[in-house]
Amino acid sequence: MTQLEDRTAGAPPPRRPDPRPDRVAAGELVEIAMTVNGTGVQVSVPARVHLADVLRDHLGLTGTHLGCEHGVCGMCTVLVDGAAARACLLFAVQCEGAEIVTVEGLGTPDDQHPLQQAFSAHHGLQCGFCTPGMLMSSYDLLDAGPEGTAIAPEELPEQMSGVLCRCTGYRGILAAVADVAARHPDGLPGPRNCAERTLVGRGGARATATRGDDAAPVGEAVLPTEVRIPGGAPSATVEVRSELAAPVEKVWEVLDDFDALARCLPGAELVEVLPDDHYRGRATVALGPVRLSFEGLAHVVERDAGEHRMRVLAQGADAGGSATQADIRLHAEPGPGGTVLRADADLFLSGRVAQFGRALAGDVSRRLFEQFATAVEETARTGRTTSVPAGPPSAVRLLVDLVRARARRAVQRWRGRSGSR
Ligand code: FES
Ligand code: FES
Repeated sequence: MTQLEDRTAGAPPPRRPDPRPDRVAAGELVEIAMTVNGTGVQVSVPARVHLADVLRDHLGLTGTHLGCEHGVCGMCTVLVDGAAARACLLFAVQCEGAEIVTVEGLGTPDDQHPLQQAFSAHHGLQCGFCTPGMLMSSYDLLDAGPEGTAIAPEELPEQMSGVLCRCTGYRGILAAVADVAARHPDGLPGPRNCAERTLVGRGGARATATRGDDAAPVGEAVLPTEVRIPGGAPSATVEVRSELAAPVEKVWEVLDDFDALARCLPGAELVEVLPDDHYRGRATVALGPVRLSFEGLAHVVERDAGEHRMRVLAQGADAGGSATQADIRLHAEPGPGGTVLRADADLFLSGRVAQFGRALAGDVSRRLFEQFATAVEETARTGRTTSVPAGPPSAVRLLVDLVRARARRAVQRWRGRSGSR
């Protein structure tokens, strides 16, 4: 049994719903069942769609990059049944029953695969666009037990020539691969992040991946009726604590009224109240040249008036292919000056918004929650929800606050270190 098979053993085998015809038209929807990073998924896509688009758009696995879409650059390299393959050259329908591993399956930011660690240690990336392809290609190269990692360093340039680096950072990449080969004479460790989880497509309006027995055909551009939170590690986590002068009951009144709550969210607008504590809305976030307008759905899944605690699941998508999902917990409790409002959130980002990176996404989200807390306080104090600005946060303001907050944290860290000496 290969390491790959070993890591994903136990995942339910993908189901093929029905015997399919031998020929279908290019635009005809076909059901495809496969295992991706240890998760059994079923998607319904036109027969002409290639695997990379299914991974990126339908399963939200945007780590697989697309460069040429002609099989030349290797950016889209993934493992199909344990062997490297160009995801832009494979129709998804050819992957029925296959076991796919993408760069997301290799490791997580907190538990990186040795190859990822080595790329970082040897500066094996500049812009990073080729990195997923390089990682999966080098994984395939070294993944043959002791024979795989016995490769001579001088063979690497040719063996790794299937992926092109536009930044021409080959020396660091080759040094990283050689380092991993030398450190693992008994064979390359398997992928570290293959497990059963929920996968959510880019664009909340086109959630297309389902798993196991929940599988159902999914159409294009169907507005979601339920919020789906992906499994695995979030892109960013936020924990904000704000002290408000308003009494806790008044603060809870604002949180408990979703219309008032939405007005307190910077740039957010409630569009429609749906049954069962579901809400449809839109939100605008601007940061530098990136301006995102999200259409989305929120679902209040817990509301405890006695404890002044609520949990909201939200998902949104913008026309440019960015998608966010969030699991938000709000808790108001009596504090020394009135109320302590806590907001904890797990944020999942994909598409353009993911360019923000974990740190920046966390900082921006933190700042938005702080603005939210200020607006809640104002509403609780005045009882007037219309006085809260509903426009998007200013990019300049946001950046200035961000720089200030980082400088403050750096000074605090420096003081802490000085104090402990
Ligand atoms: S995008 Fe697939 S080889 Fe270039
Ligand atoms: S690091 Fe930029 S393309 Fe390779």
